[in-house]
Amino acid sequence: MAKGLDVGTMNIICSEREDEDVVFTQQRNAFLELESGDLTKTMLDSANVLYIEKDGQIYVLGEDAFRFATIFGKGARRPMKRGIISPEEKDAIPMIQLIVERVLGEPNYRNEVLCISSPANPIDLDINTLYHKKMMEALAGRMHYETSVIDEGLAVVYSELGSSSFTGLGISIGAGLTNVTLAYLATPVMSFSIGRGGDWIDEQVSSTTGLSKEHVCATKESGFKMGLGSEVEFGSPEGALSIYYDALMTYLIKNLNRRLAEITPPKVEFPVALAGGSATPNGFLRMFEKKLRDAKLQIDISNVKRAKDPLYSVARGCLIAARTQEGEDVNSGGGGSGSGSGSGSGSGSVKTTEEKKA
Ligand SMILES: Nc1ncnc2c1ncn2[C@@H]1O[C@H](COP(=O)(O)OP(=O)(O)OP(=O)(O)O)[C@@H](O)[C@H]1O
Ligand SMILES: [Mg+2]
Repeated sequence: MAKGLDVGTMNIICSEREDEDVVFTQQRNAFLELESGDLTKTMLDSANVLYIEKDGQIYVLGEDAFRFATIFGKGARRPMKRGIISPEEKDAIPMIQLIVERVLGEPNYRNEVLCISSPANPIDLDINTLYHKKMMEALAGRMHYETSVIDEGLAVVYSELGSSSFTGLGISIGAGLTNVTLAYLATPVMSFSIGRGGDWIDEQVSSTTGLSKEHVCATKESGFKMGLGSEVEFGSPEGALSIYYDALMTYLIKNLNRRLAEITPPKVEFPVALAGGSATPNGFLRMFEKKLRDAKLQIDISNVKRAKDPLYSVARGCLIAARTQEGEDVNSGGGGSGSGSGSGSGSGSVKTTEEKKA
């Protein structure tokens, strides 16, 4: 069996096999604190909301935290910031624990292998990911999983680059960070992250346009129907978003080239796979590939592709790593992306935690 778990700043996603399919169970990494009261509880119960009661307070978890934040006129809180447990959020650990428990569920058997993604240390922020990594391992270990941790960029390589024998550059552009791993035959040669992702774009556009971060984020997630790089109205939020997508890509490629100059990579051609929610907009791949080719990297690039399901790629890569660790044949069925076999079924079905409990 085995499971994969992507613990992200915005989304927590579990992946597992169900017959020949990969099933993803997802929750937003957020919560909302409300005063406990009969009326509130009745309302939440009738709306089938995921919540817990603790010390006279109600905590609404996941996606619903955002939905109810508007209704109750309060801001949803996020347990993670820039890829790791937020030091500014006192309730971060118990809230992540609850969301992870709901998303993961009980192991199918004691010591079922679980592979968790973790960010690499950012090169531009004074933060260290070790504490976060150890906490996630301990949390799953307490649930009787046999846990291991892999870099988020390596998970993208496992998910998307099976056809090149897990050699290539895996890039996950998430909410809090962008993670990069260069791998040769499934072995990481270089891993790092930068402190910029979707949240950074939201913050920059918000501070330049005066729009709220929530408004900017909603525009970003729905507003690029015509694609990044296409004509937009002068002075519009879409215009500001394009500028900061461009800035993020330029910054990422500049730092990638710097890091590559510090290592001696094998003399082979490397394919590149882009994943993470922030790589979703139409036109992202084209814009990124052009910048990458223009940058004349210190390695040879064969081709650049985007994951079929950018949001689920890391969780899928974690599942492949976990199944390999359990000694399963990852070439069989939907979860596999073994060498020479292409990338298997790129997607899978997505469940909410409520469907999973049912
Ligand atoms: N359709 C979309 N267009 C643009 N951005 C999107 C879209 N869907 C999601 N995003 C952005 O993707 C980000 C979330 O992606 P993802 O789930 O990969 O991040 P994460 O894994 O939670 O974060 P991290 O890896 O940085 O800890 C958010 O910034 C979100 O706004
Ligand atoms: Mg991520």
